[in-house]
Amino acid sequence: MFDVCKTTDISVGEKRAFKVGGEHILVYHLSDGFYATQARCTHLFKSMENGDITANDEIQCPLHRARFDIKTGEVNEWANFPKAVKVIDGLRPAKCLKTYPVAIDGDRIQVLVGEEPVST
Ligand code: FES
Repeated sequence: MFDVCKTTDISVGEKRAFKVGGEHILVYHLSDGFYATQARCTHLFKSMENGDITANDEIQCPLHRARFDIKTGEVNEWANFPKAVKVIDGLRPAKCLKTYPVAIDGDRIQVLVGEEPVST
């Protein structure tokens, strides 16, 4: 587990980007807790650090507007903007985001990325 920040560092409805264990991740604070996903969109690898969190707890890619379920990583809608982007669906079929287990230890958020232990 990697210690990333304090629970109070991310307000409800917000997210923050981190690089841990060699991976770029986003940590989200949703109404029912904290979640983590890979930061880069699985379509054409745009960072979703500036993507929007929707009312349905999705992260929307700012480039072609793919929407992913933050809790499961599932694709709710694949790249669709502009419409012409659909022509590459054969080359870039819908692919889920990686998600990472999150634990809260006191006031700290920890994310399991790979097998690295938290040093205590
Ligand atoms: S890079 Fe994210 S939808 Fe295309």
